[in-house]
Amino acid sequence: MNNNFWWQHGIIYHIYPRSFMDHNGDGVGDLRGIINKLDYLSWLGVDAIWLSPVYPSPMADAGYDVANYIDIDPLFGSLDDMDELIAEAHQRNLRVILDYVPNHTSHQHAWFRESRMSRDSPKRDWYIWRDPAPEGGVPNNWLTRFGGHPAWTWDEPTQQYYYHTFLPEQPELNWRSPELQQAMFDVLRFWCERGSDGFRIDVIHRIIKDAQLRDNPPNPRWKPGMDPYQQRLERYTRNQPEVHDVIRMMRATVEAYPERILVGEVNVAVEELMTYYGAGDELHLPFNFQIIHARLWDAADLRRIIDQYEALLPDSAWPTQVLGNHDEHRITSKVGAAQARVGMMLLLTLRGTPTIYYGDEIGMHDVEIPPELVQDPWEKFVPGIGAGRDPQRTPMQWDTTSNAGFCPTDVTPWLPIANDYTDINVATAQTNAHSMLSMTRELIALRRTTPALTRGNYRSIDAPDGVFAYFRETNDAQVLVVLNVDDQPKQMELPPDLTGAHVVLSTHMDRLNESIGTTLELRGDEGLIVKVT
Ligand code: GLC
Repeated sequence: MNNNFWWQHGIIYHIYPRSFMDHNGDGVGDLRGIINKLDYLSWLGVDAIWLSPVYPSPMADAGYDVANYIDIDPLFGSLDDMDELIAEAHQRNLRVILDYVPNHTSHQHAWFRESRMSRDSPKRDWYIWRDPAPEGGVPNNWLTRFGGHPAWTWDEPTQQYYYHTFLPEQPELNWRSPELQQAMFDVLRFWCERGSDGFRIDVIHRIIKDAQLRDNPPNPRWKPGMDPYQQRLERYTRNQPEVHDVIRMMRATVEAYPERILVGEVNVAVEELMTYYGAGDELHLPFNFQIIHARLWDAADLRRIIDQYEALLPDSAWPTQVLGNHDEHRITSKVGAAQARVGMMLLLTLRGTPTIYYGDEIGMHDVEIPPELVQDPWEKFVPGIGAGRDPQRTPMQWDTTSNAGFCPTDVTPWLPIANDYTDINVATAQTNAHSMLSMTRELIALRRTTPALTRGNYRSIDAPDGVFAYFRETNDAQVLVVLNVDDQPKQMELPPDLTGAHVVLSTHMDRLNESIGTTLELRGDEGLIVKVT
């Protein structure tokens, strides 16, 4: 396939707007804050930013409960600010990807207010309303993702239940309604007209539910103490065949505009993930959560899952990789600071479009949140199972001033800032040639200037225990990536035909240009990129 589109050779940077930069001094990040940091992102070398939702919202789920898809919440700024952000980003050759949340709205969205007014409301079937079961009670056994409660809420005035996968404040849209479909496609058009370069689509695999609302089967592996929501297998609430028809319509909608893309949050098994590319007419980039969800940070396991993904990808499909996002614990907290560098090298040397989660480039880690400061509804509804997502959403650490340069010093940020921010911050890292930030920037620059890394094939090779190694190669260029996923030194025998090969980057930020013999010495926690031809 042509692999020279911006979204194929580019790198996406995921901004969690509440936590990136506070410009108006209320302790919450905003659009003008992002505008002020665009130069930093250009300096880093990324190609696109994806913003988690900034639309008007009562913030029951931090903005993933949208009350109006075509405006901006005053917390973040205004439509004018968004226009300016897009213009300023484009001037710097940065694309802007917006979050699109089609599965549900806020209960305060005008559509839902109208829908719940009466059973005859013209928008009644824009949401999923049902009578009680014949014997009374909820229509079926579906459970909420947040807390495993019955996923139906009773509406006293109209004597019916409405369905919601997440909070009762997030009623589910009915994508079987053609009118609703058109209204949601209009939202895509609205933002394309304003210059958005694409959309990250929230829980796209969930937007269509079984037409007959059949009960989900029990999960035989569920035990008390596990997330209560996992008591049922989600056979009828996600990944239904009709979802692909809708995605094709979304794709056709954005294709009326040049070079717009659809990135999808698709939390399904990797074999099923492939179906979300369609015949090149569905998602451009269905997120691949294999590495995020890997149970082990283990060389053999990483090789296994990446080989599997590569083998399953249809020829027409472009891969994509991600190590973290606003829903997942930070990579530094999962594997430690030294291995987080190896992880960044992995992310930026695998085949396919990488997405970097804000702050991962400086090695930010999860921050423990005292119970009285918890914001995330997931933590509030299911305390004790570690589901809370605040720890990975804390303010970006910009410098050594109090509040880390995120907000004014006399303001309390919406979530606490990591207490080691005076060590881990952008300003300090920028002055240190060995910092993780310097390494990430080098990696980005190297990737950009090395065709084998941007578009070469991937081929893993055998390596000693604890080491994951692969070639990236085009017809006339070859790069070897060797990652020591262990903290102990390793020796690796190399194929004999690598004469002339030399190191172009080490995670330790040394060994530049070192020639490679037949045995490669790796220090603990070291990743190396070796240029062969
Ligand atoms: C997605 C979002 C998550 C949100 C949920 C409900 O999984 O990434 O943050 O809570 O959808 O909208």
